[in-house]
Amino acid sequence: MSRTYKISILPGDGIGREVVPQAVNVLQAAEELVGGFQMDLHKYECGGEFYRKEKREWTIEAEEFTKKEADAVLLGAIGAVNSDGSSVRLPDGNLAGYSIVIGLRMELDLFANVRPVKLYEGVWTPLSGKGPDDIDMTIIRENTEGLYSPTRGTLKRGKESELAIDTRVITRKGSERVIRYAFHLAVNSHGAPSDRQKRVTCVDKSNLLAGCQLFRSVFDEIAQEYPSVEKDYAYVDAWTQWCLRKPEYYNVVVAPNEFGDIITDLGAAVQGGLGVAPAGNIGVKHGVFEPVHGSAPKYYGSNSANPIAAILALSMMLDWLGTEHRDKKVKSAGELIKASVAELLREGKVRTLDLCVGPWSSVSPSSTENVTSEIIKLLKRIQTKR
Ligand code: IPM
Ligand code: MN
Repeated sequence: MSRTYKISILPGDGIGREVVPQAVNVLQAAEELVGGFQMDLHKYECGGEFYRKEKREWTIEAEEFTKKEADAVLLGAIGAVNSDGSSVRLPDGNLAGYSIVIGLRMELDLFANVRPVKLYEGVWTPLSGKGPDDIDMTIIRENTEGLYSPTRGTLKRGKESELAIDTRVITRKGSERVIRYAFHLAVNSHGAPSDRQKRVTCVDKSNLLAGCQLFRSVFDEIAQEYPSVEKDYAYVDAWTQWCLRKPEYYNVVVAPNEFGDIITDLGAAVQGGLGVAPAGNIGVKHGVFEPVHGSAPKYYGSNSANPIAAILALSMMLDWLGTEHRDKKVKSAGELIKASVAELLREGKVRTLDLCVGPWSSVSPSSTENVTSEIIKLLKRIQTKR
């Protein structure tokens, strides 16, 4: 029986408002081509721009639907700027849109932030001598605690003795579930590009920090449940250089929240930039999918942002929904989208400015909309061949 999925569409701010509508076009094309499922899309304004107008980050309806009814969420980016260039903030000092980007992670308990670092054929990496056969890892970032715990504050604002504290919380439960997620992913993977060994690397700073010592000891415990997966360790500072020197050694990488934030931007650079880096925030019942890039307000309105990160996030969403609901049609729509993006990149001719680098620097850049319509053409071509 064909199933209907309720999806919350939250473009948010800046280029999120350009790339998410394009991802929605791709979704609708895939729904029609593959058939066998329906998407009931609920689109809501939210974020910093919305806050500037309405003095709230989203409507009650948007919040209730997203948290209570949606089967999945597709989010663009959060972050608006004032006319003086400063970020739009809430009275408590948080980023306007915090409830959406960080609030959803915390409240829906989206404990694993899954960030695939895959270099597609036809994409230039700044690492010399490395190619698509070398770069294919997944970074799992703990997503509900660490330095992002909402236990922070400032004292004596503006005075000479002003101080600010952020508390880094690491719990056994929070560590266990995300580390288990990483091992589970590794068991079902093809292993590391260099030696096909299934491997999970624990990236931490356990030579110094108590939270990281707990994280690593939980890592050792969980590793025992997965004898076919090699356990590997790296201190986060050292890992940043290993990632550049031998990315092919990495299969699945797991890290506490704030380290995961930093190393996934490094990962994005290695895979060709933020324009092609998707993410899935995954919990037990909920999933929020988003491009890793931010709102980049200065590019908003220029129809030049790369829609691929958002489109790959959409493909991750369909893959997750298909797995959760044992729905082969939805899963195959996700695969079709990924295959079409891969084909577009391989062909090399139609790409946004960010990808016109290295051997592709003489290609004249296409717009956000043109890249999307080309992907939709490829969906049709690939689907008829299947
Ligand atoms: C990310 C972003 C967010 C984070 C920001 C927008 C708060 O950088 O998703 O990586 O730090 O998690
Ligand atoms: Mn980040």
